[in-house]
Amino acid sequence: MDKRNPVKGKVVFITGASSGIGKACAEQFAQLGAHVVITARRLDRLNTIAAELSSKYGIKCTPLELDARDNAQVESIFKKLAADKVEVDILINNAGLALSTDKLQDGNPSNWDTMIDTNVKGLLYVTRAVLPSMIKRNSGHIINIGSISGHDCYASGNVYCATKHAVRAISKSLRLDLFGTAIRVSEIDPGAVETEFSEVRWNDKDKAKMLYEGFEPLVADDIADTVVYCATRPPHVNVAEIIVFPQAQASIAQIYRGEAAKDPFGVTK
Ligand SMILES: NC(=O)c1ccc[n+]([C@@H]2O[C@H](COP(=O)([O-])OP(=O)(O)OC[C@H]3O[C@@H](n4cnc5c(N)ncnc54)[C@H](OP(=O)(O)O)[C@@H]3O)[C@@H](O)[C@H]2O)c1
Repeated sequence: MDKRNPVKGKVVFITGASSGIGKACAEQFAQLGAHVVITARRLDRLNTIAAELSSKYGIKCTPLELDARDNAQVESIFKKLAADKVEVDILINNAGLALSTDKLQDGNPSNWDTMIDTNVKGLLYVTRAVLPSMIKRNSGHIINIGSISGHDCYASGNVYCATKHAVRAISKSLRLDLFGTAIRVSEIDPGAVETEFSEVRWNDKDKAKMLYEGFEPLVADDIADTVVYCATRPPHVNVAEIIVFPQAQASIAQIYRGEAAKDPFGVTK
């Protein structure tokens, strides 16, 4: 292992790498010389990203179509990787989404299913599939992208907040389940990051843009920096949890947009 760059030559498996934080992680690990396995549902985007990263950084980038909600697909991908003698050193569980901001009494159960199936069950499926090989090698790092919504709740955030609370419980439980092994488990919990997240949530570009107006939000690279920080600590250091806010954010529901600013959604101050 190169102590100055411990991720060089390592295999980094990223879910939700077609956009935002996952895509930024793919680029930062590629820049460090890792073999990045990038997965998501939109294979066309992954193919473009893979071509760019491999030509820019001279690394191996493997794009794979994966819907994290489909356990059979998850298992078959890991079988194929094992057959190709690719063993994952670092898993970044990043795929996730929020859908809508309805009060629970007005909520759409189909949205709830999608959020729970992706953010919680998808993360479990992929983690379950990667662990046997890590345990066998007594080596590996699972990095979960949680959220400040795993620490606190905001109005109409009900089910999304519940899924991120679940991610936090899973990260903590997994550290206990892996007690005595050399495998590390870290969780990064961002505040407001400007990605496609809010556009996906509301299916409304203008509304999504408004959420990030009047302050400087985080960008995907700010979170990728934090993921790389966790992954490049020496093996005896496990960064358990990091909360990252934009400077203007003081809590889950308080983002400073100036004295005169109105809260556009009744969610933040
Ligand atoms: N942006 C924020 O303010 C913020 C704050 C805290 C936490 N987070 C968390 O950060 C993570 C990344 O979000 P982001 O902000 O980067 O949003 P984003 O730009 O919308 O990216 C989300 C990624 O998840 C993937 N994805 C969604 N459903 C999937 C599924 N069923 N199977 C596989 N991949 C799926 C999407 O790819 P495809 O559509 O191609 O499948 C996309 O690549 C999420 O877990 C989110 O909850 C975001």
